[in-house]
Amino acid sequence: MEYGNGMPAPEHDAIAVVDFGGQYAHLIATKVRRHQVLAEILQPEDPVERFAGYRGVIISGSPALASRGEEQGYNKAIYDLDVPIIGFCFGHQEIAQHYGGRITNAGREWGRADLHIQRDHPLFAGLSGVEQVWMSHNDSVTALGPGFEELGYSRLGSGELHRNAAIASDRHRRYGFQFHPEVDDTPHGDQMIRNFVLEICGCRPSWTMERYLEEQKERIRAQVGDGSVFLLASGGVDSTVAAKLIGLALGPERLHLLHIDNGLMRREESRRVLEMLRGLGLGQNLHFVDATDEFLGALGDEVEPEKKRKIIGTTFIEVFEREARRLGIESHLLGQGTIYPDTIETGGTKRADTIKTHHNRVRVIERMIQKGRVVEPLAELYKVEVRELGARLEIPREALRRHPFPGPGLGVRLLCSKGDERVSGELSPAVGSPAARFGLEAVVLPARSVGVKADLRCYEHPVMLTGAAEWGRLLEASGTLLKEVPGINRCVWNLSARAPTQVTPLAATMTRERLDLLREADHLVMEGLRHHGLYESIWQCPTVLVPLSIDDGGELCVVRPIHSERAMTATAARLPEPLLTELRERVLELPGIGGVALDLTSKPPGTIEWE
Ligand code: XMP
Repeated sequence: MEYGNGMPAPEHDAIAVVDFGGQYAHLIATKVRRHQVLAEILQPEDPVERFAGYRGVIISGSPALASRGEEQGYNKAIYDLDVPIIGFCFGHQEIAQHYGGRITNAGREWGRADLHIQRDHPLFAGLSGVEQVWMSHNDSVTALGPGFEELGYSRLGSGELHRNAAIASDRHRRYGFQFHPEVDDTPHGDQMIRNFVLEICGCRPSWTMERYLEEQKERIRAQVGDGSVFLLASGGVDSTVAAKLIGLALGPERLHLLHIDNGLMRREESRRVLEMLRGLGLGQNLHFVDATDEFLGALGDEVEPEKKRKIIGTTFIEVFEREARRLGIESHLLGQGTIYPDTIETGGTKRADTIKTHHNRVRVIERMIQKGRVVEPLAELYKVEVRELGARLEIPREALRRHPFPGPGLGVRLLCSKGDERVSGELSPAVGSPAARFGLEAVVLPARSVGVKADLRCYEHPVMLTGAAEWGRLLEASGTLLKEVPGINRCVWNLSARAPTQVTPLAATMTRERLDLLREADHLVMEGLRHHGLYESIWQCPTVLVPLSIDDGGELCVVRPIHSERAMTATAARLPEPLLTELRERVLELPGIGGVALDLTSKPPGTIEWE
């Protein structure tokens, strides 16, 4: 199947989104798609031919500064396209500049502002004269080129007036918004995007899941012919929806599924996954391997996070290749639940440092991809659309709403150590005084976890805060410490009211006992989220076991509930007081646990997983 080649599916009207910053571009594309118009991400350097067939172009925002001429390597031939083009924030400034306007570094405007619309324009159809919009920029458009006019100015509170917040040239069919219509803080941004896509570009809304489903079934049948498909089923949302769709297109007898238990799964996970797949009518050729011994044997005494990841990845390849030979699947096509963001090279990931080694590509899979023998029926969809498709395929909500779970599973949540971690002498006083400003006690923990600072991997100490404070103050304290003190990359908040008097590093490896303990703690956390109706509103919630002895009572268990969009950034999610009390009591009761804490760290500087 083809995707990401810049040619929209001929049966749908489509919009090209030029990606100057992964987050912004994906958000814009998902918002366009809500209006049943296909939106695809194109790169700034793409040749202009790639834009053929699109009915309009949106240029995204960017962390770059237009006034300094940053990000000028892009293909300006897009301005010769005879379709409407609109830019948001950085894109708006680029359009203004290209058509003879001026950009000045006029000062920061950041937050909710009022957009005062000065004249009727189809872009603002259905909106009132003053609209709340989200601003986040340093550069401004201070003069317009010939043919352009100001549609609106903005003002933040009673502050200064910013000209040219919305601009247009109907003659050139070029438009710009200084604000971000794609974010929720622009409450009617959706209507503005709709106006551009449907009214200005004239797209017909045909991109519905109903049609997508029918088209994909046809495509799968055409690609597979009378062959069969083999798919690795982890139990995650994407592979489950892909399996169900392929099974529907070909009939369950022509779909083979393999589920591998690597011993690093959640409590009862493999049993539940197999049950669910059978429940979906996919049990006919469902294969299962319990490779726990092999994985734990290979991990042995290893304590280094990257080495652990590599061992898990390599063992996975070995188990998979052996099973592939045994089942003779090299003659089958390979099914994968790859989704749209995975197929896009975003500005962020293109230049990214290896923060963590992901292991989703095994050799036999790469060979099959190279030979074009891979079926990826979700490669054009975002996660929300995968869920929508899954619901249409009658996959139970429970299976569709599961939190993402990393390939190496609990392997990256069970921290290991030789027991020789030391905190350097100056670090403890350095955290003490900023913490005291918030009325909190701080202890630097003799353990380390992976984080990301200025796009680079870091492996540093966490700090544990103890004391009573409101949630907002706790987050502020965490942010302040992480900004002010070098050598730390995480802040956790002790759920006990009393600070530990003794925290010592423990020698600990990936043993069955520790895995079982982590599984129990994780189970209590997941159960707690469900009982309190929070499972769906929280994006992910790793539970981590840290090899520290807390006042001789056992190890430290850290709970990490987060909110996130696509895992590129994250913020700590607040849990209600009764749930915190429950967690403290129930998790602390587990023999082997000596302390329970909540991770307050945003990403960056902490990653979502601790390793
Ligand atoms: P980090 O820890 O890098 O995680 O902030 C971002 C997201 O990716 C998940 N994750 C993985 N997923 N294979 C995966 O399929 C992996 O090796 C892996 N490592 C992290 C993590 O759970 C989070 O959702």
